[in-house]
Amino acid sequence: MQQVVHVDLGERSYDVQIGPGLIDQAGDWIAPLLARPRVAVLTDETVAELHLEALRAGLAKAGIDMVSLALPAGESTKGWPQFTRAVEWLLEQKIERNDIVVAFGGGVIGDLAGFAAAVLRRGVRFVQIPTSLLAQVDSSVGGKTGINSLAGKNLIGAFHQPSLVLADTAVLGTLTARDFLAGYGEVVKYGLLGDADFFDWLEQQGPVLAAGDMAARVEAVTRSVQMKADIVSRDETEQGDRALLNLGHTFCHAIEAATGYSDRLLHGEGVAIGCALAFELSSRLGLCSQEDPSRVRAHLKAMGMKTDLADIPGELPSAQALVDLMGQDKKVVDGQLRFILARGIGEAFVTADVPPPAVVEVLEDALTTV
Ligand SMILES: NC(=O)c1ccc[n+]([C@@H]2O[C@H](COP(=O)([O-])OP(=O)(O)OC[C@H]3O[C@@H](n4cnc5c(N)ncnc54)[C@H](O)[C@@H]3O)[C@@H](O)[C@H]2O)c1
Repeated sequence: MQQVVHVDLGERSYDVQIGPGLIDQAGDWIAPLLARPRVAVLTDETVAELHLEALRAGLAKAGIDMVSLALPAGESTKGWPQFTRAVEWLLEQKIERNDIVVAFGGGVIGDLAGFAAAVLRRGVRFVQIPTSLLAQVDSSVGGKTGINSLAGKNLIGAFHQPSLVLADTAVLGTLTARDFLAGYGEVVKYGLLGDADFFDWLEQQGPVLAAGDMAARVEAVTRSVQMKADIVSRDETEQGDRALLNLGHTFCHAIEAATGYSDRLLHGEGVAIGCALAFELSSRLGLCSQEDPSRVRAHLKAMGMKTDLADIPGELPSAQALVDLMGQDKKVVDGQLRFILARGIGEAFVTADVPPPAVVEVLEDALTTV
């Protein structure tokens, strides 16, 4: 059942191994990268409790020693205080230039540990062992690393590609249903942005995949990673095509900011709602058919996911206030908002040519149904 996706980036190329049981084999996969048989693992307390001993055993089988630091679970870890703690800890552990740092957790740990590896001794190599669905299909691949600032999300960071990614699909079994579905929001995004057949497949297979079918999980992770790898290989530092991966994210970042990056809305939930809004906007601008946004929403609803602004608990600001929050988005160029819109399912494109009143109108209508 094991699959591999190659991320082709010249001398920074690497493989993403995908399948159940990779943690048990972690030592065999990582050993060829090591100058000495010792790694430093950064993880979070939830993942540590559930899976760290399995990783220790998997590494020990290949004679590799492991030291580990477990940070608190959750987005608030992705800031300067825990980042400083992690980097100082890596130095205390005498991690040298030729050593390997392992990121073992969801996107929070992957982003923080990757950035720590990027700056430690001016850059050490790291291995991603993503444990959430979101991290397996998105954040562990492509080399974007970083932390949040008081001014906004992901504003401090570096491009630093991992040397290897081990996506063990068996660990997804311990995710809460909510975290699993949040990750599924990113999976749907891939179908919507560039692969209509994949979206058709998800409409059929989504329910069995969510229920735990391993072959379907491996297939969904592999197709998602393959699409991300292709896009990243064409445009590593987001000068063009890579922005397609941000389908739904302009809306998502605004509603995440409006909900204070809190438990009210997880990132992947915001992406799903954002994709539905991006298709609604595309349809109103006459770019895609009216059926497309309905089909997107129907699939999200069938999966039991948040689909509309009304599904977010608590108050939301006005449509104009949400548009103002979009101004903080990293995709703003010369003060002009860029959107990822679609000519149909699987046909996304990047544009700065969106009349602001149309965005306000879509949000106003979405808010009045709240
Ligand atoms: N670098 C990128 O390209 C990129 C892309 C997308 C998202 N991100 C970032 O990823 C982060 C979100 O990632 P996330 O959703 O994985 O969040 P997360 O790391 O907070 O993980 C979500 C929750 O799941 C728990 N968890 C993880 N694996 C588990 C497992 N196997 N069993 C049980 N619980 C488990 C974690 O402890 C946490 O409580 C955000 O900070 C976002 O900015 C980065």
